[in-house]
Amino acid sequence: TSALPVYTLEEVTKHCSLDNGVWVTYKGEVYDITAFVAMHPGGDKILLAAGGSLEPYWALYAVHEQDHVFEILSEYKIGVLNTESIKKQESVNTLDPYSAEPTRHPALRINSLKPFNAEPPSSILSDNYITPSVIFFKRNHLPVPRVDPETYRLEIEGLPGGVVSLTLNELKSCFPKHTITATLQCAGNRRSEMNTVKQVKGLNWGIAAISNATWSGALLRDVLLHYGFGPEVAAKAQHVQFEGLDKDVTGTAYGASIPLNKAVSEDGDVLLAYEMNGEDLPPDHGYPVRVVVPGIVGARNVKWLGKIVVSEEESKSHWQQNDYKGFSPGTDWDTVDFKSAPAIQELPIQSAITHPAEGTSVDASDGEVTVKGYAWSGGGREVVRVDVSIDGGKTWHVAKLRTGDKGQQAPPPPPGKAWAWTLWEIDVPLPHRAQELEIVCKAVDSSYNMQPDTVAPIWNLRGVLSNAWHRVKVKVNE
Ligand code: HEM
Ligand code: MTE
Repeated sequence: TSALPVYTLEEVTKHCSLDNGVWVTYKGEVYDITAFVAMHPGGDKILLAAGGSLEPYWALYAVHEQDHVFEILSEYKIGVLNTESIKKQESVNTLDPYSAEPTRHPALRINSLKPFNAEPPSSILSDNYITPSVIFFKRNHLPVPRVDPETYRLEIEGLPGGVVSLTLNELKSCFPKHTITATLQCAGNRRSEMNTVKQVKGLNWGIAAISNATWSGALLRDVLLHYGFGPEVAAKAQHVQFEGLDKDVTGTAYGASIPLNKAVSEDGDVLLAYEMNGEDLPPDHGYPVRVVVPGIVGARNVKWLGKIVVSEEESKSHWQQNDYKGFSPGTDWDTVDFKSAPAIQELPIQSAITHPAEGTSVDASDGEVTVKGYAWSGGGREVVRVDVSIDGGKTWHVAKLRTGDKGQQAPPPPPGKAWAWTLWEIDVPLPHRAQELEIVCKAVDSSYNMQPDTVAPIWNLRGVLSNAWHRVKVKVNE
């Protein structure tokens, strides 16, 4: 009973550019979104759907499943599709790029389902020194690619002998297997605290976008040296780029790069990892091969690794160039120049309280409160001290540090190779007649770097590098 014009797919398809107008369809209705293209928060990716249906793209970017998005779309409605056209579109509209996603542990706190981003509840984060893989935080930008280990090939470019193509078996059998324990932390860990100052753009991570695992694989250094890396290459190249096998709708792979020095240094410990916690990498963590760059921000630890390029240049990837960079609190989306800031590599000193949880209570009769948490620093810098206060930072106590599961204290790592986090714990006596506690922690690393006391001075528009003193308020029951 709609009085709106009826269109065929052929008519819609003609409107596939800014010159001819941009039409799209959604659930059998036709929209002329020409005027909206320039206002689209996701940029000109929107043109990929020009002349066709939105469904397959919105299935890829579930951020669109929100009322405010549907409201915007409704403003541009110009007609409906005829029945035959709707039938023709059916198969493409029900395509779900996320249909092959692995099953995930129910404890995970989901930040975004498609792509899958989730962190464990902070209350169980520090229960194990080695985080079980099922609750290890997961940060995917795209659908999980399902890779056949038989046909898998790792390509290496930029070495004197030309392009190398390695099978999984060659990677496993031709190079010594090396195991390290390393913590991965997302640049956006604790972003939600930045949102309390002023809204930032990004997933609303709590304190658990960080986890610790053992990783086994070939040393990237061994592989590069085997295929001819030497002084002639080093004289020119400065970066090692990585490309994932996960691709967006334009066919662009996830990518990142690290400095060449980190990749080839004897002390770099960069792994082409095929095992996590003693088993094959799980699909969410990069099966069959991922890079583990210990001490470096999660974003450079490329999963589902397809290609390595030794290069004079950094990766051209969006995630290397226009994301994962830090800015002044005074920089906003109108003034930001992504070229002006370096890509994040090593992360700053970090710590947070995993117990007790915000808003819970402790009993005055216990006489003390047990506080627990984690601490970690980038670049292999060891955590040398964690200070804890229960009165908002007026008085301080030094926590006991732990670098292994209970009873399995590991020897301290060699200087500059503290890749894994430190768990800490302390029993602090309750002050007389306290009704509320403001528990605070701050860590110090081997370069005496410390955390800033508040988040406002380090606020940045992307909400990265959030490492202020962590504060938790709890009540004291009489
Ligand atoms: C984000 C609207 C089509 C890719 C957004 C947002 C809106 C929006 C309102 C911000 C959502 C939020 O953060 O709450 C629309 C409308 C579309 C359309 C009205 C069609 C008429 C598309 C298409 C693609 C796309 C076809 C991809 C091929 C994206 C991406 C983002 C986004 C990647 C996230 C940007 C970020 O990282 O913040 N879109 N969109 N959009 N859109 Fe669209
Ligand atoms: N590699 C690929 N190929 N695709 C991705 O989306 N995400 C990166 C990195 N490697 C990503 C990737 C980011 S931002 C982080 S924080 C880590 O993977 C997360 O690793 P995890 O999911 O194993 O915890």
